[in-house]
Amino acid sequence: MSNYNKKELQTYLNKIDRVFKIDKLLSTKVDEDLTVKYYRANGKYYRWLHSKQGAMHFPLYFKTGREGRSHAEGLLQQPLHIQKKVRETNAMRILELGSGQGFNSIFLAEQNPHAEVIGVDLTPSNIAQSKRQAKYKEVENVRFKECNFEQLHFADNSFDLVFAIESLSHSQHIEHALSEAQRVLKPGGQLIVFDGFLQQPIEVITDENLKKAAQLFTIGFAMHDFRPIKSWLEVAEKAGFQLLHQEDLSVETLPNLINFQKGSKKIFDYPRLSKIILGLRLLPIPLLKHAISGVLGPYIMQSKTVGYYCLELRT
Ligand SMILES: C[S@@+](CC[C@H](N)C(=O)[O-])C[C@H]1O[C@@H](n2cnc3c(N)ncnc32)[C@H](O)[C@@H]1O
Repeated sequence: MSNYNKKELQTYLNKIDRVFKIDKLLSTKVDEDLTVKYYRANGKYYRWLHSKQGAMHFPLYFKTGREGRSHAEGLLQQPLHIQKKVRETNAMRILELGSGQGFNSIFLAEQNPHAEVIGVDLTPSNIAQSKRQAKYKEVENVRFKECNFEQLHFADNSFDLVFAIESLSHSQHIEHALSEAQRVLKPGGQLIVFDGFLQQPIEVITDENLKKAAQLFTIGFAMHDFRPIKSWLEVAEKAGFQLLHQEDLSVETLPNLINFQKGSKKIFDYPRLSKIILGLRLLPIPLLKHAISGVLGPYIMQSKTVGYYCLELRT
C-alpha cells in the first residue's frame, strides 16, 4: 500500500482545479456551520447511495487473508466491534459522539435491550432522521440529542462507554472533545474511536500533491482536519486517557475508497459539464465537493499519508 499513481493524481488535481479552483478550496474555513450545511445537503444522498439504514461511515471490507464482506456487512463492522466492548465491559450507559443518522446507536440499543444508548450530533437534520428511524424500528432504549460533543450536556461519570465513528475528525477543538469524553466517562470507562489520521505531521510531507490531496479530502467532507496520530494520542493522554489498543485498518477501507473514486471521477472527467451543473446549482455544491474527497481518497491511503484506525482508550 505504499505506492500510488503520481501521474494520475496530478491529472485529477488539474481537473478538480478546472471545476473549483484549488487555491480557493484550500482557503476554505471549515467551521461547524459548514459541517451542518454539508450533512443537511448530503443526508439523503448518504441514504440513497451509501446506506438505506443511515450509516455514514466507511465499510470495513476484509481482514487480510479472509473472505471479503459485502458493503452492508462492512458497515456493521464498527458497531459490531463496539458491541464486543459493551459485552466485555458490561456497559449499561453508552454514548455515541456524532451519531449521524443513528445507525450505530440504534444497532447497539437493539443488541442491548437493558442498556441505555444516547447519540449526540451537531446536525439537526441527522438528529431528526435518527429519531424517525428509531421510531420506525420501535427501539425504545435509544435517545438522540442535538448537541456539540465539545460541550456535552451530561453529568460527570455518567457513562460506561463512549464511542465515536468518523466524527472526531470534524472537531474544531479536539482537546475539548476528548476532555468532555473523559469527564462523562465513569472511572475505568472506555472510549472507542474509528477515524482517519495523518501518519505524520502535514509539514513533513514533502510531496506537495499528497499534502494538497489530504487537505482537500477533509475539506470535501467538511471535516476540520486529519490530525497526526501521534499528536492526537498526546492530546488524549493529556485529557486523562490511557491507550489500550491501536489498530491500522486502512487496508480494510481501501476497496470502498476505490469504489467511491470510480463514481466521483466521472464528475471531474467532464469539467465543462460539471461547471454548468455547478453554475446552475443542478446538484448541491456540498455533494460536488464531496466528490473531490471521493477522487482523492485512494491516493492518500495508498501512499500511507493517511491511515484509518481503531483506537481503544480508557480513563
Ligand atoms: C461521518 S458522520 C458519522 C456518523 C455516524 N458516526 C456513523 O458512523 O454513521 C459524522 C457526524 O458527526 C457529526 N458532528 C460533526 N461535528 C460534530 C460536533 N462538534 N458535535 C457533534 N456532532 C458532530 C456530524 O453532524 C455527522 O453527523
